[in-house]
Amino acid sequence: MFKNKFEENRKLNFLINKIYHLIFSEKFSKKINFNLDKKHRLDLIKYAIIKNNYKNYLEIGCHNNEVFDKIEIEKKIGVDPISGGNFRGTSDQFFAKNKLQFDCIFIDGLHEYDQVKKDILNSIKILNKNGIIILHDCLPSTINHQRVPRTRYVWNGDVWKAIVEARTWQNVNTYTVLSDQGLGVIKKEKNSNILNIGNLSFKKLKYKFFYENYSKIMRTMSYEQILEII
Ligand SMILES: C[S@@+](CC[C@H](N)C(=O)[O-])C[C@H]1O[C@@H](n2cnc3c(N)ncnc32)[C@H](O)[C@@H]1O
Repeated sequence: MFKNKFEENRKLNFLINKIYHLIFSEKFSKKINFNLDKKHRLDLIKYAIIKNNYKNYLEIGCHNNEVFDKIEIEKKIGVDPISGGNFRGTSDQFFAKNKLQFDCIFIDGLHEYDQVKKDILNSIKILNKNGIIILHDCLPSTINHQRVPRTRYVWNGDVWKAIVEARTWQNVNTYTVLSDQGLGVIKKEKNSNILNIGNLSFKKLKYKFFYENYSKIMRTMSYEQILEII
C-alpha cells in the first residue's frame, strides 16, 4: 500500500520533471554507444583492495548493499540516509562527524553535480596516501540519463560534470573506465594530464559538449588499462 503510493508519487514527479525539461532545458537527441565491457564496479573495487592491501573502505550510497556486503576488508563504513550500510544519514552528515581516514572510497550517493563535487572534495581530505576514490554512473548514454531533476528509473545524473571539474585540478589524477555505466577513478597525486577548458561553469556544461568530447574530458580508458594505474 505504502509502496504503491510511493511509486505513484515517483511517476508523477518524473512526469512533472519531463515537462520542466521540455520547456526549460537543453534538447539533444543523439545517443552514445560507449561499448562498455562486462566488468562490474565490484570487480574494480575488489581488485584495488587486493592489489594495494587496503585496510579500510567507505561507501557513500549503499541502497541494497549489492556491493557493500561483498567487500571483505578489516573495516568498512557504508553511508546511506535510507537503506543499507551501517551509518544512517547523508554523506554531508557523515563527513561532518567523521574522524577516520580511508584507503578506498566508493562514491555512489546522490548523483547530482553539486553533491558529487562535495563528496569528492570531502573524500580527498580523508583519503590515505596511495588511496583511491571510485565513482559510479559517470557515462550517461543519452541526455535523459543525465537530466537533473531526474525523469526516469535508470539514471546516471550529472556525475560526469564533477569528473570533468576534477580533471582540471592540480592535485589529483582522474580517469573514467569504460565499464558499468562509467567508473570514475581519482588518485591523490600530481595531475599528469590537466584538462584546460577555460573558465566556465561546470554545472552548466551541455550534454552536446559531453557527446562531442567525452573521451578527452573524462580521460576514458579500458578496464585493462586502469588495472596498471591503480
Ligand atoms: C545508486 S544507489 C547506491 C547503489 C550501491 N552503491 C550499489 O553499488 O549497489 C544510491 C543510494 O544513494 C543514497 N543517497 C541518496 N542521497 C544520498 C546522500 N546525500 N548521501 C548518501 N547517500 C545518499 C540513496 O538512498 C540510494 O540508496
